[in-house]
Amino acid sequence: MKLTLIDFDNKFYNSFDDKNEIKVSLTKGNYYTILIDGVKIGIVGYIGPFERRNLKSGLVQILIKDEFRRKNLLGKIYKKLVFQDHMNCLFASIKENNIISIKAHKKIGFRKINYKLENQLIKSNKLRTGWVRLIKIYK
Ligand SMILES: CC(C)(COP(=O)(O)OP(=O)(O)OC[C@H]1O[C@@H](n2cnc3c(N)ncnc32)[C@H](O)[C@@H]1OP(=O)(O)O)[C@@H](O)C(=O)NCCC(=O)NCCS
Repeated sequence: MKLTLIDFDNKFYNSFDDKNEIKVSLTKGNYYTILIDGVKIGIVGYIGPFERRNLKSGLVQILIKDEFRRKNLLGKIYKKLVFQDHMNCLFASIKENNIISIKAHKKIGFRKINYKLENQLIKSNKLRTGWVRLIKIYK
């Protein structure tokens, strides 16, 4: 299986019924089309990068075509993304009711930030109420 991340394809992204599950901000970050053996299977990207101390991070977003879900691709795609863009930290804001995405992220090692930090982010409008913030450091 060959996984590659190529230029973002807006037409392909717009073809998703559930494209509004994520909010793509092309001017604020980097987005890619995910290819598996030459077939477009989704889009991935992040707002950022943000560089602080020794962390280069991004607020990640991903959308995978239905027929390619539940194949444990999430972790492989993120590994490719962090490697390609020389990053070592990804964080995600996920709607509390998006149980599937939260489960999938936890399965690959994302952890919920602590309650105190979560409250700070909410107060400074960096995280909406009803959303959770998950983070993973890549070594
Ligand atoms: C979230 C999303 C990217 C996950 O991608 P994926 O390739 O299906 O995830 P993976 O196959 O790597 O993860 C599998 C794990 O996620 C969870 N999961 C995935 N689909 C699930 C389902 N339908 N029901 C229950 N758990 C599910 C399980 O923990 C599963 O592990 P298991 O198969 O051992 O039980 C994909 O569902 C998607 O594109 N959703 C719509 C967009 C979205 O919500 N994006 C996230 C916002 S950041």
